[in-house]
Amino acid sequence: MEKRSFGPSTMVFPQPSFLIGTKVNGRPNVMTCAWAGVACGYPPILSLSIRSVRYSYLGIKENETFSVNVPSASMAVKTDFCGIVSGKKYDKIEECGFTLFYGHDENAPMITECPVNLECKLIQDIELGSHNLILGEVIDTFVSEDCFTDGVLDIEKIQPLVYTPSPIGAYQTLSEILAPAFQCGKVMKKK
Ligand SMILES: Cc1cc2nc3c(=O)[nH]c(=O)nc-3n(C[C@H](O)[C@H](O)[C@H](O)COP(=O)(O)O)c2cc1C
Repeated sequence: MEKRSFGPSTMVFPQPSFLIGTKVNGRPNVMTCAWAGVACGYPPILSLSIRSVRYSYLGIKENETFSVNVPSASMAVKTDFCGIVSGKKYDKIEECGFTLFYGHDENAPMITECPVNLECKLIQDIELGSHNLILGEVIDTFVSEDCFTDGVLDIEKIQPLVYTPSPIGAYQTLSEILAPAFQCGKVMKKK
């Protein structure tokens, strides 16, 4: 198969579209972050790549805590807004009409309207280049009660907002479930 080279890039599809909750100078703020993911299982650690010029970065450093909020597909416009304006100039919480709640730390505001919220404690900040790699240990995880079906977490109800980066640059939904993970591949195993 023919391949087209793009050189060194960060072209990974899809990416999440998390909303990072912080308190900066005593005021709650939220920013969109797509360069993020799971870094470790035990202990549970999430990674964020954040430019140190972000207003949110000040809050992470100041309080050594932050939240990772998973927006649903219906929150695309608000998620984009939180990624194109700074908390330096805007009260994004008020503009978006977000309701905040707190878990264990009063400096890690979480967004009630996001179906999944993870409260994190900063454990490492590594300068990489354009971005700093922020590692946060998850202190607690919250899921909205209406995201369960018969007591089981239901991804159709979470409806996470997916980000498809440049050169496409779009928000999308997840499509249908194809096959069970850690299971469907078993048909290829040699007996
Ligand atoms: C879809 C999307 C993804 C983004 N991902 C990141 C990211 O991973 N890291 C980052 O530093 N900025 C990212 N940004 C940009 C910040 O969200 C943006 O600069 C924001 O205004 C920072 O807010 P603050 O100044 O209130 O902290 C992203 C923006 C959008 C729209």
